[in-house]
Amino acid sequence: MLRKTPISNGALNVHDAGHGAPILFVHGFPLDHTMWRAQLDVFSQSHRVIAPDLRGFGQSAAAGPQASTIDAVRPLTMEGHADDLADLLDALEVHEPIVYCALSMGGYVGWQFLRKYPERVRALIQCDTRSSADNDMAAEVRRKMAAQVMDRGSTMVAEQMPTKLFAPETMTDRLAVVERVKQMILNTPAATIAAAQLGMAERPDMGDWLKTIRVPTLLVCGEHDALTTVEMMQADAARIPGSRLVIIPRAGHMAPMERPDAVNAAMREFLAGL
Ligand code: MLT
Repeated sequence: MLRKTPISNGALNVHDAGHGAPILFVHGFPLDHTMWRAQLDVFSQSHRVIAPDLRGFGQSAAAGPQASTIDAVRPLTMEGHADDLADLLDALEVHEPIVYCALSMGGYVGWQFLRKYPERVRALIQCDTRSSADNDMAAEVRRKMAAQVMDRGSTMVAEQMPTKLFAPETMTDRLAVVERVKQMILNTPAATIAAAQLGMAERPDMGDWLKTIRVPTLLVCGEHDALTTVEMMQADAARIPGSRLVIIPRAGHMAPMERPDAVNAAMREFLAGL
């Protein structure tokens, strides 16, 4: 089920289970494939579920030696991850178009994947993500955070980030989910966090491109998502022809982990209509 799969310039750790039409699950920042556990358990009954750790995250090694100072960190770009995913599908001999399902940073990668490899995508499920690029200030905040994490380690991010990721109810009632996310962050090397921040800071704005999307698209947004707000996702939904936006009550940015039943129901209905 879990296997290290060689790709160009490295290998990705990937959870690969079930049979049927393939769904590729792509995690957010700075997490790993286990964030999709509740979806993998359910959809492996009906589909082939493929959930990698992106390069440098989870159990997937970075390309080359880990940087020890910020000057040595090279950005992990969204396009680079998209190329890795295309390589991964080749390595797994997945030639039919996949359903691409992602959260946040995985969604930024998703726009690049669909742009570069349209023939590989049957449908798109984008959770708690957006098409816009960072403005100058947001990009600067990312660069500063990249430098700080190289000095202070992943603990800093594990302490600061969770409050922004969850709905208030999750922080009081679903502490196991909060703890799992903290552990994922702690397990992510500082150099990967820094490289991902630099990569996200330079990601392109995809707003105008959304109107060219020709595959069925489901957008999912936690009602309390503070990072990718309902308003942002409504604006993206309005640009993607024929897309549907489902808002998940009592969820924040980590909707698939916070309210898996509601997210899975939205996914099931969408997949049934393909
Ligand atoms: C994520 O969840 O992947 C991040 O919030 C993405 C970001 O930092 O923009």
